[in-house]
Amino acid sequence: MAGQIPQRFIDDLLARTDVVDIVSERVKLKKTGRNHSGLCPFHQEKSPSFTVSADKQFYHCFGCGAHGNALRFLMEYDRLAFPEAVEQLAARLGLDVPREGQDDPHQQFRERKRKEGVNLLELAASFFRERMKMPEGRQARDYLDQRGLSPEVVREFGIGFAPAEWEALRHHLGEHGISEAVQIEYGLLVHREDSGRMYDRFRDRVMFPIRDIRGRTVAFGGRVLGDGKPKYLNSPETPVFHKGRELYGLYEARQAHSRLERVVIVEGYMDVVALAQFGIRNAVATLGTATTEDHLSRLFRVVDEVVFCFDGDRAGRQAADRALRTALPMMIDGRQARFLFLPEGEDPDTLVRREGADGFADRVTCASPLSEFLFEQAAQGRDLGHIEERERYASQVLDAIGQLPDGMLKSLLLTELSRRTGVDQSSFESIMLRHSGAAQQAPADSSQPLPAGEPLPAPNEAVGQGGSLGLMARALQLLVHEPGLVERLPDNDNWCALDQPDARLCYQVVRLLKAGGYRSAQVLLAHFHGTPEGERLAELARRQPLVPKEVRGAELENWVSYFQRHRQQRSPQDEYDALLARSRAGETLSQQERQRLSELLMELKG
Ligand code: GTP
Ligand code: MN
Repeated sequence: MAGQIPQRFIDDLLARTDVVDIVSERVKLKKTGRNHSGLCPFHQEKSPSFTVSADKQFYHCFGCGAHGNALRFLMEYDRLAFPEAVEQLAARLGLDVPREGQDDPHQQFRERKRKEGVNLLELAASFFRERMKMPEGRQARDYLDQRGLSPEVVREFGIGFAPAEWEALRHHLGEHGISEAVQIEYGLLVHREDSGRMYDRFRDRVMFPIRDIRGRTVAFGGRVLGDGKPKYLNSPETPVFHKGRELYGLYEARQAHSRLERVVIVEGYMDVVALAQFGIRNAVATLGTATTEDHLSRLFRVVDEVVFCFDGDRAGRQAADRALRTALPMMIDGRQARFLFLPEGEDPDTLVRREGADGFADRVTCASPLSEFLFEQAAQGRDLGHIEERERYASQVLDAIGQLPDGMLKSLLLTELSRRTGVDQSSFESIMLRHSGAAQQAPADSSQPLPAGEPLPAPNEAVGQGGSLGLMARALQLLVHEPGLVERLPDNDNWCALDQPDARLCYQVVRLLKAGGYRSAQVLLAHFHGTPEGERLAELARRQPLVPKEVRGAELENWVSYFQRHRQQRSPQDEYDALLARSRAGETLSQQERQRLSELLMELKG
């Protein structure tokens, strides 16, 4: 992974870019008074409710709420990741994007390796596509045709053919100067230790390139043309491919929608491609594994809703049960998961051909929401007329509810469970509290808003046991969930006592929010993606803040004033370190702060 882009560079880019230019290169705008306006590119509309302000350097849509600065616009409109959007803006100004830690030799090495791998896999993908067009690819073309795939959809998914030869690809890559060692490393060439033989891994197969979220080929899946075994052969784990993380079709789905809202998770390559052929362009497939937490966190970064698709048999039910368990802890408010069971003996490929796109879409529309599925699943095979069975039913549901992050969904499900069993909701709450051990953390991590002026728990007390969050982490968490709260913070950031856990990250986030005017958790997460800070932010984003929405702003202000008071009691060394760190992070210290810094230095030296 490349180093982070320095914040100063981003600030500078934004200062030198006019959002009106960026937008008007892509959307027809008309000048109306001080602003520009036009038809919103992010939702369907007939009269313009999309405005761009040159003064504020923002766009805003009164219809759908789309909102942001030039970087955000590029991310949304061109569907770019944060660093790519930065690259774009920089390219307009003829600048190279600097990276922190760029001169770290390990990092350079890793970056070079990654490029090498990606080039090699692209080269292989185009080799497979070329071979399919040639006479020898006839059989593969016929096979795809017989499976009902059009040349257009085959092209869109970049499908190709690996010839029935032992070393066709090896020779081709060799001609491009790619060593055998690298071909082996990326899973294209197999080296048999016993005989010393080397040969192409994929032979006489239809080749599906697996692309990462940015469209780069990272691996392949190959299907035999007939009934041979194994039916599918996947690339092994390589430096760029981890089976439990990648989703087949996600890139293509994002390309097909300006705003992808939901994805359908199916089992096979063919299901994804067949659905696309019928115009259902939001299916993705795991690569022969169950859906993992990694998959879901990837998906929830780009959509709010996932629909799991399962076979109607017993194995399908079991798979659904596993998927439910994986999904539960990730269901923060605003996300949705639904469960779709297919008739026995069908997969999405066969079904969409039999029932057509509308038929399949109707099934998706009728898929059970997680809340329903959870009750259904627990009721399976139980006679709820018996008290003991009802008890087991309630325990199973309660167990599942206990895995949900705190939030509306959790409360609603508890109410529903109480309605269905006739047991008072408060009994469930106390059982759950006992089971999770959450009772002990209640005093420090109280969900009650703290009244202004009352002494707050010292941050150190609030850190620690049972996964409860420190005060600084809770401030950070509020900002991640509601970046707009940054407006409640004071102009200077010196309340961010850098000696507290999470403070440094909080400080970075605050600066980023103030500089970029971002108002979306996704953009924040994208900015830190792939770093330990990103992990931390994602973790905080997954947990629902305990502070009720209406009082979050006030609460944040309380905490900040607590930090400010607390800061004055810090040791000179801490205060000195904190000031120095801020100055090193590229911040301009005020006159007073600089004076304080030199006083502290004298004091510490003397
Ligand atoms: P078609 O028979 O081509 O329609 O395939 P399918 O997509 O219906 O495949 P199936 O339901 O048999 O399998 C679903 C998915 O499991 C495939 O897309 C593969 O990812 C994986 N899979 C199936 N068979 C094999 C196999 O033999 N080896 C491996 N590694 N994966 C397999
Ligand atoms: Mn199939």
